[in-house]
Amino acid sequence: MRVLAVTASVSDCSRSKSLLLRFVEGLRTAENLEVKIRDVGKTPPPHLTELQLKLFADSTLPDPEGVCSISNELIEELRWADVILISTPIYNWAIPSTLKCWIDQVVRLNHTFITTPTGIDGLLQEVPKGWENRNYNTKKRVILFVSSGLTPAEHITRYLRSVLKFIGITRVQSVDCVHLMQDNIPEEAKQLCDETLVTFLKNQPKED
Ligand SMILES: Cc1cc2nc3c(=O)[nH]c(=O)nc-3n(C[C@H](O)[C@H](O)[C@H](O)COP(=O)(O)O)c2cc1C
Repeated sequence: MRVLAVTASVSDCSRSKSLLLRFVEGLRTAENLEVKIRDVGKTPPPHLTELQLKLFADSTLPDPEGVCSISNELIEELRWADVILISTPIYNWAIPSTLKCWIDQVVRLNHTFITTPTGIDGLLQEVPKGWENRNYNTKKRVILFVSSGLTPAEHITRYLRSVLKFIGITRVQSVDCVHLMQDNIPEEAKQLCDETLVTFLKNQPKED
């Protein structure tokens, strides 16, 4: 199982990241577990630029300065992963801007979605018609770990689910934890994390 863990808190003692790592510990029994951590809180992806948007829109344009290389790298990680874990705090009623930068780098025409006569097709789902020769993973699953002080997390979870759906990922579970202000993680949050792990493992697809 290949796990990509995207963590968004800037804090050294991040509660959302602790819950994510607790989940990863629970996966340790899985065969061939490989974990890659992408800490966008500590190492934020860059903001989009006009040049990057032009290159995103027209893939025939040359990119001698490698303006798209970070986007390529982040998308490659998403393609690689069977399971994507995303942990984020709420900052001022929203996701941290660093996580938004990550989203802006990975939602990309002809890389993670395509336009069709009938609308948009996310490319990180089952192989779309006409793209059968491309090597897409069909088993991706996402767990979201959203932690906040007082603000309920529904709007954040809904937003992240919409973004993931746009790029073709619909198998999403979430661990939303409010009242995570103190250093110690409350027992209820740990329990929610553990229950999500149990459901996740129960619904794990069989290897081909
Ligand atoms: C800059 C900043 C802004 C925050 N804004 C909110 C907020 O709007 N609503 C809320 O409930 N909590 C807010 N919090 C509290 C955090 O969301 C909460 O403590 C969260 O569990 C922190 O996660 P972390 O430990 O992974 O960084 C904020 C914290 C910081 C540092």
